Amino acid sequence: MKHYIDFHEDVGIEELNYLLDIAADMKAKVKTGIEHHYLKGKTLAMIFTKSSTRTRVSFEVGMYQLGGHALYLSNDAIQIGRGETIHDTAKVLSGMVDGIMIRTFSHQDVVDLAKYGSIPVINGLTDDQHPTQMLADLLTIKEVKGDLKGLKLAYIGDGNNVANSLLQACAKAGMDIAVASPKDYTCPQKYVDQALEDAAVTGSKVLMTTDPYEAAKDADVLYADTWTSMGQEEEKAKRVEIFKDYQINKDLFSVADKDAIFLHCLPAYRGYEVTEDIIDGPRSYVFQEAENRLHAHKAILVNCYLNS
Ligand code: CP
Ligand code: NVA
Repeated sequence: MKHYIDFHEDVGIEELNYLLDIAADMKAKVKTGIEHHYLKGKTLAMIFTKSSTRTRVSFEVGMYQLGGHALYLSNDAIQIGRGETIHDTAKVLSGMVDGIMIRTFSHQDVVDLAKYGSIPVINGLTDDQHPTQMLADLLTIKEVKGDLKGLKLAYIGDGNNVANSLLQACAKAGMDIAVASPKDYTCPQKYVDQALEDAAVTGSKVLMTTDPYEAAKDADVLYADTWTSMGQEEEKAKRVEIFKDYQINKDLFSVADKDAIFLHCLPAYRGYEVTEDIIDGPRSYVFQEAENRLHAHKAILVNCYLNS
């Protein structure tokens, strides 16, 4: 069974190139109106226990463009919201649909869905990881910079799901990665170790620091995410204070490479993790990045469905 749950475990170094190539190919097909019904008649159940704009729309539109059909299942509309177990949900859905995409809090729930079900499972974000975002990010960097190997990405901010997945993805792509976070908000060591393991193979470097300027130095990509992730809303005021020196702005760009670009998984909060002049300025590729969720997710779907 081909799942897409954890970038480190589920995406091989060669497979990453294949995924990026088919994403680019399907993007070209969409732009030129060439039909690509690789998943004709296939279905995808999409479970959401957290909000989403990009992930939901891209998977739903993606299945349609591939000739299949997606069902949106929000937490409060299905029985999971009333306590039905992951075990039973996995068994029931496996009998009716061809794959599951889930966005939820607990990473273990996604792992269990795959364990008890008999169809591919795609992780649309958990508290720990955001692997589908990574393929769109790498596709965008490749489009803008031409290649990935040898580039440096600096992530500035909370050591959250996006930061963890960036550690996994950059090391796998042969990109140097630097993460700058406040002392008690850095990524779990597990993700640093996974990145170091792949970096030893791909030849990239991994830097963990509390200094945003050290991370941003000579970087080709400066990457931000919200300081307050879904589920942390009550901590917002405290986090604004803790993260105030971890903003991507003109000053930080001044130490990066002169052709550095800005990326953000979105949704963005202008004036907090990034200033308006940067996110709405010429170095920002955030809307190309958002569109690439569609093309990247179609590659993930095709790879999971056709190789399971
Ligand atoms: N970046 C991202 O996952 O966006 P959504 O929360 O809108 O899906
Ligand atoms: N870290 C953010 C990402 C949103 C796409 C969150 O989990 O809310």
